[in-house]
Amino acid sequence: TKIALFASGSGSNVQAIAEAVAAGQVPAEIALLVCDKPDAHVLQRAKAFGIPSFSFQSKQYESKEAFESEIAGRLQAAGVEFIFLAGYMRLIGPVLLSAYRNRIVNIHPSLLPAFPGKDAIGQAFDAGVKLSGVTVHFVDEGMDTGAIIDQECVRIDSGMTRDDVQKAIQQIEHNLYPSVITKLLNGHREEQKR
Ligand code: GRF
Repeated sequence: TKIALFASGSGSNVQAIAEAVAAGQVPAEIALLVCDKPDAHVLQRAKAFGIPSFSFQSKQYESKEAFESEIAGRLQAAGVEFIFLAGYMRLIGPVLLSAYRNRIVNIHPSLLPAFPGKDAIGQAFDAGVKLSGVTVHFVDEGMDTGAIIDQECVRIDSGMTRDDVQKAIQQIEHNLYPSVITKLLNGHREEQKR
C-alpha cells in the first residue's frame, strides 16, 4: 500500500516509520513526504531513505485550498492511499479531507482529549499530571479531535524533567506509530479481499 507522510520538523517519527518499512515490518511504500518547511531536518532524513519529497511554502499560494489542491494532485499521481501526519503543524483543510476521507491519521503526544494543540508535552508537564501518553487518531476538521485509534500511557514521576518526559513520549511514539500503521493497512487489505 502506498502511503504519504506529512511533517514540518525534525522527523524522528518519519525516521522510525521509514526504518520499520525498510525492515519489512510495515507493509507499505512511502511514496511521498510532504513538508511545509523547506529547511526542515525531516527532508534530509527522507533523502537518506530515498523517499521522494514535496516541500512548499504556504505563502507562495493564494490559499489553503490552492496548496492542498497541489498536494492532492501529487498524492494521486503517486498512487497514495493513506496519509500519516507526523509533526505536520497545520490543520488539514476540506480539499484533502474530502480526497482522503477516513484515510488521514495523526499522532499526538498526549492522551487526547487532554492537551490538544501545540506543545502538548509542555502543557501536560505544567499541569502536573502524573499520567500522559500518546494518541493515534483519525483526522477530521478539528484540532486533534478525530476518532481515537490507539493510545499508550507514560508515567510522569516526580523528579522527571520536561526533557525526560519528552524522551519517554518519543520512545513510545516510535514504536506505536509503525505498529498502528501496520494494523490499519492490514485491515484495509483484508477489506479489499472481501
Ligand atoms: C511528535 O511528538 C508528534 O506526536 C507531534 O509532533 C512531534 C513530531 O516529532 N505531532 P518529530 O518531527 O517526528 O520528531
